[in-house]
Parts: sequence; C-alpha cells; structure tokens
Amino acid sequence: MAAIQIAPARRGDAARLAAMSRRLVEAGLDPCWTESRIERHRQDPDSVVLTARLSGTVCGFAIMQYGDEAAHLNLLAVEKVQQRHGVGRALVQWLEETARGAGVFRVRLEVRGSNPGAQRFYAALGYEERGWVAGYYGAGEDALRYERDLSVRARRVE
Ligand SMILES: CC(C)(COP(=O)(O)OP(=O)(O)OC[C@H]1O[C@@H](n2cnc3c(N)ncnc32)[C@H](O)[C@@H]1OP(=O)(O)O)[C@@H](O)C(=O)NCCC(=O)NCCS
Repeated sequence: MAAIQIAPARRGDAARLAAMSRRLVEAGLDPCWTESRIERHRQDPDSVVLTARLSGTVCGFAIMQYGDEAAHLNLLAVEKVQQRHGVGRALVQWLEETARGAGVFRVRLEVRGSNPGAQRFYAALGYEERGWVAGYYGAGEDALRYERDLSVRARRVE
C-alpha cells in the first residue's frame, strides 16, 4: 500500500468526516457527529481532529479531546478497503504520543456493544475493558468502556 500521511484535518474536511462517521461508526443510530460539530472540534485547542490520507484522499480519521487528567477518544474510523493495514493503529499511536507530550497519561473511550471488531482492535492496542455503560448510544445500544494507562510504556522507555 502507498504511504499513509497522518496529519491534522484541514479546513473543508469536516463534511467528509461526518459522512464517514455516519457510514462506519453511527450506522443505525441517530447521527450526532455532524459536520458543524466536527468543525468545532477541529478549531478547539483542546481537541485534535486527525486524518490519514492515501494519495491525498482521506481514508481514516480520529477525534481526541484532551483534558487535564485524561484524553477521550471520541471517534475513529477507517474506510473498509483500507482496514487491517495499520491505519487505525497509526492514528491512535499519533494521538497517544501527543497526549504523552502534553503530560496526559490516560486515554478513555467507548465502543458500541455490537462492534466486536473495534473491541478486538482496542484490546490489541493495549486498552483494557472498564465495564458496560447501559443505553450510552440511546435505547437498546450499550457501550463497552475502555481505558489505557500511557504511563506504563513511558516508564519502560525511561
Ligand atoms: C476499528 C478500526 C478503526 C480499526 O482500524 P484498522 O486500520 O482496520 O486497524 P489496524 O489495521 O491498525 O489494526 C491493528 C490491529 O488491531 C486488531 N484488529 C483490527 N481490526 C480487527 C478486527 N476487525 N477483528 C479483530 N482484530 C482486529 C488486529 O490485531 C490488528 O493487527 P493485525 O491486522 O496485524 O492483526 C476499523 O476497523 C474501523 O474503522 N471500523 C469501523 C468504525 C469503528 O468501529 N470505529 C471504532 C469505534 S469509534
């Protein structure tokens, strides 16, 4: 596969990212990641909207919001044809490095209970299950919460 470029989203990306979220993440739910909401995150100094581009076209993206004590991974999606080529891992690793650089050593996220592929992905990246959240996505869909302590690797490399 050609080289993937990981970089913050550009002005004008939000519409495509919202469409990807509807298709890949929020299918069957009332979509809440609208173009305007993604654009607000893009301009928010406490958030990063990160894209993966292949030959200039967005093939994956992630949104992370940084707090004082923890960062929250709000959204992550990779186009189906590019899945299982390391794009999701590269996006998450970029965001984790940025969190470490900002002195934030905990990442939290939720995954749809009906999404075993994403659950295996986060487990493969070292995220630990932290229990279920009933009705997180509205009636009938629970979330599985995950968390990763980034200081574990940071201590090993010191
Ligand atoms: C979850 C998702 C982001 C993973 O992205 P990806 O680029 O395909 O993942 P990677 O190629 O970086 O995978 C890294 C590792 O995670 C694990 N993994 C990834 N997808 C997996 C799956 N469907 N089943 C089991 N393990 C999986 C594997 O161990 C993989 O390494 P390997 O391919 O060498 O075996 C992608 O499948 C996706 O966009 N899914 C739809 C949207 C979604 O579920 N988003 C997450 C919830 S917000």
